[in-house]
Amino acid sequence: MSKRILLTGGAGYIGSHTYVALIEAGYEVVILDNFANAARRVPGALEQITGVPVTLFEHDVLDRAALDAIFAEHAFDAVVHFAALKAVGESVEKPLEYMQCNLGGLVTLMQAMAQAGVFNLVFSSSAAVYGVPESLPIPETAPLSHANPYGYTKLVGEEIIAQTCASDPRWSVGVLRYFNPVGAHTSGLIGEDPKDIPNNLMPYIAKVAAGELPQLSVFGDDYATPDGTGVRDFIHVCDLADGHVLSLNALFRDGLGHTVNLGTGQGYSVLELLGAYSKACGRDLPFQFTPRRPGDPAASYADPGLAKDVLGFKATRGLEEMCTSSWHWINTCAADN
Ligand SMILES: NC(=O)c1ccc[n+]([C@@H]2O[C@H](COP(=O)([O-])OP(=O)(O)OC[C@H]3O[C@@H](n4cnc5c(N)ncnc54)[C@H](O)[C@@H]3O)[C@@H](O)[C@H]2O)c1
Repeated sequence: MSKRILLTGGAGYIGSHTYVALIEAGYEVVILDNFANAARRVPGALEQITGVPVTLFEHDVLDRAALDAIFAEHAFDAVVHFAALKAVGESVEKPLEYMQCNLGGLVTLMQAMAQAGVFNLVFSSSAAVYGVPESLPIPETAPLSHANPYGYTKLVGEEIIAQTCASDPRWSVGVLRYFNPVGAHTSGLIGEDPKDIPNNLMPYIAKVAAGELPQLSVFGDDYATPDGTGVRDFIHVCDLADGHVLSLNALFRDGLGHTVNLGTGQGYSVLELLGAYSKACGRDLPFQFTPRRPGDPAASYADPGLAKDVLGFKATRGLEEMCTSSWHWINTCAADN
């Protein structure tokens, strides 16, 4: 019988792509999302892509009574926990909201899981837990720190998980430290859909390409990188989604938790990404250099070796596919609206 997975935040960007990957891998999947940062059309798009009716509960992950009712109704084998607030800048303005949602949400969820006897969890962590890296590529053993309240919630979230696992051996948790997810599903039906001005680079570039924003601000042109702009490890969201399938497979197979980077191990600069996107959309995209942002590292890219060893994970989609899939999504999305 196929295993049943609860995806919190499953209507969001990474959650929706992971939903598709899990269905394709033969899992049964139920979504819980409060639509704080998800579009209403996502469940319909997921049905269109997978051909499977979506089971969705619209609740807040902080709503313990709702969680208990859902766990009582469905015998889950595992939970993948995406639901969180993720905008770094906003987290500086509203730290308590981030603590409540990201940490309160995690604790509430784990309590409901324990009560229901579900002890397999995959947790969305972030390369933000490495703060400003001391050396590159970044292995999982690198010193951990945080540069903002958002990064703090991921770091403390990992600690909460570690202490819970130490106190009760029934827990098996896959902690996945994502680098920079970009791109979209090949269908063009799901993708990253920021409600306001995007915080992340690729959705910002996409809006410039679509003519919705005038130009890209490139923060810093004097870093010690080949072209002076920041270097990041961009990973196609469908590769990232596949990483969740492998993480769940490993939890069910080994009964052991893991903490791994999900990145490609390859750094690309802001100008390289902009160049690749310009090629994908067929025109040079306007940009201007602006001063560095405090706290931004010059470069950050993963050592992906442990994820390969433990999960058999290797990202396969390159920069061109990241940009063309995003542009396809923007066009399909724009045609829909
Ligand atoms: N996108 C990135 O660059 C990135 C990088 C590293 C880690 N992460 C983490 O991955 C996870 C998913 O990120 P994403 O990019 O898909 O974000 P997203 O905002 O697209 O998805 C999060 C989803 O959770 C839902 N949600 C938020 N708060 C909720 C709550 N209290 N109760 C129920 N649902 C709630 C939102 O409506 C949304 O659908 C988050 O935990 C994020 O911190 C993201």
